[in-house]
Amino acid sequence: MPEADESVKKKDYFLDIPQKNDPFFLKGSNNYDWGMKNRLSRVFNPKSGKTVMLAFDHGYFQGPTTGLERLDVTIKPLSPFADALMCTRGALRSIINPETQNSVVMRASGGPSILKELSNEQIAVDIDDALRMNVSAMAVQVFVGGAHETQSIHNLTRLIDAGNRYGVPVLGVTAVGKELTRDARYIGLATRIIAELGAAFVKTYFVDDFETVVAACPVPVVIAGGKKLAELDALKMAHGAIQAGAAGVDMGRNIFQSDHPIAMIQAVRKVVHEGMSAEHAFELYRDLAKKK
Ligand code: R5P
Repeated sequence: MPEADESVKKKDYFLDIPQKNDPFFLKGSNNYDWGMKNRLSRVFNPKSGKTVMLAFDHGYFQGPTTGLERLDVTIKPLSPFADALMCTRGALRSIINPETQNSVVMRASGGPSILKELSNEQIAVDIDDALRMNVSAMAVQVFVGGAHETQSIHNLTRLIDAGNRYGVPVLGVTAVGKELTRDARYIGLATRIIAELGAAFVKTYFVDDFETVVAACPVPVVIAGGKKLAELDALKMAHGAIQAGAAGVDMGRNIFQSDHPIAMIQAVRKVVHEGMSAEHAFELYRDLAKKK
């Protein structure tokens, strides 16, 4: 039993101040429950509304990708500069210290390797195990127009149902296979389908007229980096995406395959969180690279 409240200070109920209901900062996310919003606030910075996710899940279908041969050597030094780590549960448990302050977006689909038909994926992580690893979101690849379209849509909706039971957001990832076009029409179709089916946020590729993709998608959109580009071009892509309304990047190869990955991720952060121009961010990249 606590002691009785015998304070002599007069109670103040601030009767002239109505309690406010603050809107949640992320697009389309106002009506989620507390746990879902709290997890999204770990992925997206509530001040900028943006995120820099460091993607290093490539090994789940292509093995030791260039730059990811040793995750302990190449990825760990980058993690302090990322808002979220996007990885597999194998990489998380074997490499990432549980003391990390990064949020985790866990790759939760898989199956075929690069040697097979990639769209033939299934859900690869149980919600119980995702909760055990305290993830902030789960990610699933969606092959709109792919050979196994219905199956991959079913993976998405099953994962969303599981996530909704426990307040874990799902990131739907548009897959671009050999046969699928990379333009605003296709990307707009795929992102909208993924959002309509309940994903909390969507990852896709930057294309011309990206603002139409973002406008038609009712939840936040982040861009993947794609194949390695020259650093200035990668920064221009990130800047173009942010200007078009993207909520951040989920970037892998353009960071970890850079000649100076730590400098590059810091430059990307400036573009994403502060809206720095690509040219200024490239100057910063060069300065930081020299100091190394
Ligand atoms: C690849 O399959 C993964 O989903 C990556 O997380 C994604 O493509 C982002 O990495 P990158 O920037 O290298 O394209």
